[in-house]
Amino acid sequence: MQNIVVLISGQGSNLGSIAQACRRQHWPARVAAVIGGRSAAAGLALAALEGIPTQQLAHQDFSSREAYEAELAERIDAHDPDWVVLAGFMRILTPPFVARYLGRMVNIHPSLLPAFPGLATHRRALAAGVKVHGATVHFVTPGLDDGPIIAQAAVPVQPGDDEATLAARVLAAEHRLYPMVVRWLVEGRSRLHSEQLEWLPAGEPPADDPGRSAAWPDDSQLLWCP
Ligand code: GRF
Repeated sequence: MQNIVVLISGQGSNLGSIAQACRRQHWPARVAAVIGGRSAAAGLALAALEGIPTQQLAHQDFSSREAYEAELAERIDAHDPDWVVLAGFMRILTPPFVARYLGRMVNIHPSLLPAFPGLATHRRALAAGVKVHGATVHFVTPGLDDGPIIAQAAVPVQPGDDEATLAARVLAAEHRLYPMVVRWLVEGRSRLHSEQLEWLPAGEPPADDPGRSAAWPDDSQLLWCP
């Protein structure tokens, strides 16, 4: 049984989609703990409803980034993690912290990277006039929103979209994308190898994987890179 530790900063809807998929699809894994900061109360409550142990760790309570990360690593490691999943975790991590979990830590970012790293992705996508937007799951490396891409979900930008409608469409796609990718990792389908994404002999997702079909509802699309 593999252990997944999820780090959140907000409402935790991606965490919820992962925890539910893990339980319903009987992954050989469990969400062993959810750790969140001060603004993560709603997400931590959601985790508790799923029966997952939660911990609150506020970076504001620490005098330095290093001190905060040392405590965070201790709490993560207490759960013997196979995977550290960043789900709306709004902290920039130092290179030593990233190195500690290299190949075991993934993130979801609400844009089609490498477009729009950083914050306010939906507003910037609208301002740029892109016709396709989306979300990316990638391995975490020291660069900001910069690690090898495992998969992406693309959604159309509709005429009349504002930041809220576009964000909602992307978030709905995230809820399909992230559980699928974490499942692939747990099942050993892909991994980080020599700083690149590698698909293992288990290969591409199975035929009955909902993500295999090119078209998803509401015109969004899953894109992956075997
Ligand atoms: C998601 O859009 C994620 O891509 C971004 O933060 C948001 C988190 O949403 N990094 P939630 O807390 O999972 O609902």
